[in-house]
Amino acid sequence: MLEESVRRAIRVDKDRLMRRLDALAECGARDDGGCNRLAFTDADKQGRDRVIGWMRELGLTVEIDAIGNAVAIRAGATDGPPVMCGSHIDTVRTGGRYDGNLGVLAGLEVVETLNDAGLTTRRPLAVAFFSNEEGARAAPDMMGSLVYVGGLALTQALDAVAIDGARVGDELERIGYRGEASVPGPVPHAFVELHIEQGPILEAEGIQLGAVTGVQGISWTEVTVSGQANHAGTTPMSYRHDAGYAAAETTSFVRRLTREMGGAQVGTVGAINLDPNLVNVVARKAVFTVDLRNTDEALLKKAEARLHEHLDAIAEAEGVTISTRTLARFEPVSFDRRIIELVADTARSLGRTVKELPAGAGHDAQMLARVCPSGMVFTPSAKGISHNPREHTDPEDLEAGANTLLQVLLALTESDEIPTRQASP
Ligand code: GLV
Ligand code: MN
Ligand code: MN
Repeated sequence: MLEESVRRAIRVDKDRLMRRLDALAECGARDDGGCNRLAFTDADKQGRDRVIGWMRELGLTVEIDAIGNAVAIRAGATDGPPVMCGSHIDTVRTGGRYDGNLGVLAGLEVVETLNDAGLTTRRPLAVAFFSNEEGARAAPDMMGSLVYVGGLALTQALDAVAIDGARVGDELERIGYRGEASVPGPVPHAFVELHIEQGPILEAEGIQLGAVTGVQGISWTEVTVSGQANHAGTTPMSYRHDAGYAAAETTSFVRRLTREMGGAQVGTVGAINLDPNLVNVVARKAVFTVDLRNTDEALLKKAEARLHEHLDAIAEAEGVTISTRTLARFEPVSFDRRIIELVADTARSLGRTVKELPAGAGHDAQMLARVCPSGMVFTPSAKGISHNPREHTDPEDLEAGANTLLQVLLALTESDEIPTRQASP
């Protein structure tokens, strides 16, 4: 057991963390400073190779599983399930350099800090990155962590088809990351993910860290509208079966729906493809996505029902046929109260202000929460901008987040039980 005074005094090295963040951002770098590292692409492979190289340099034992998740273990004084941290290193096409990457590289920074101090934790420590958290190239999001916890069959994940027509399993083989370790993976003692908030709340309220209470429910639907291609000049308006119109009208509807429902309801039409997509042809076909999220499951179901009523009505009015396919559906998740309080108390003990708040984005921790006590630490995001190359968090905030992660992980590795508020270190 680490002596408490020694344990409490340990701090990460901010510059070393920043150097790794910068080096990982070189993989799939965009001209505008952001990252394009869509899952299972060459850039993803490059990022994976780099992070796994660091894991090995730090003396960790790395296992890659059948969906490409990487789990790196630092041995403890005792055997048994590790305390795990981590996140993802894939990005959206217009990604920044912190979303996901911070949680993985802060985990490596924790390991290097312990290595430098010559400290062995009581329980083993694990740093993981999970495949395809974004789900932007192939749904669902959180694919790797969902498979890891047994929430999605491996074959179903491998057979998922990407937006470019590639099969996930083929791409995984191609980049050399179809690993040997079996899924579902071993259950950790606890899981903690450090992540940028990706929203505006902490910055707006002048608060330095977030203790995340849970993750809102997520509903992704792909909508296919089949209409009739026709001449844009000669077809009277009353003769049209316009798939493009149905897509546009549904996009407006989603915004109206969020206004009418208010509260936590958000809705996005983020991808639209028209066919034949030509200036003088009424669209024959539209394929688009609807992303609905709410912290309240009953309200999320209501939003989904209203979307389907709208689709029925527009199909009838425009004389088109509409079919839908669920790409992802996750109920809201609450994190373990003990971990939420441990995060909040630890942040305060490091002299930081902290607020409990729910996450708006999906996270791997919401999947790990199915199998072990889990929680998250948030750092502020400048202007709340994310999924954008301009995503930014000040290095001092990243450092504070990493030190909180370090101390939370040590509290979990050294105690018999998950600490409760009264007993917390
Ligand atoms: C994925 O992480 C998402 O929140 O869309
Ligand atoms: Mn993320
Ligand atoms: Mn993301």
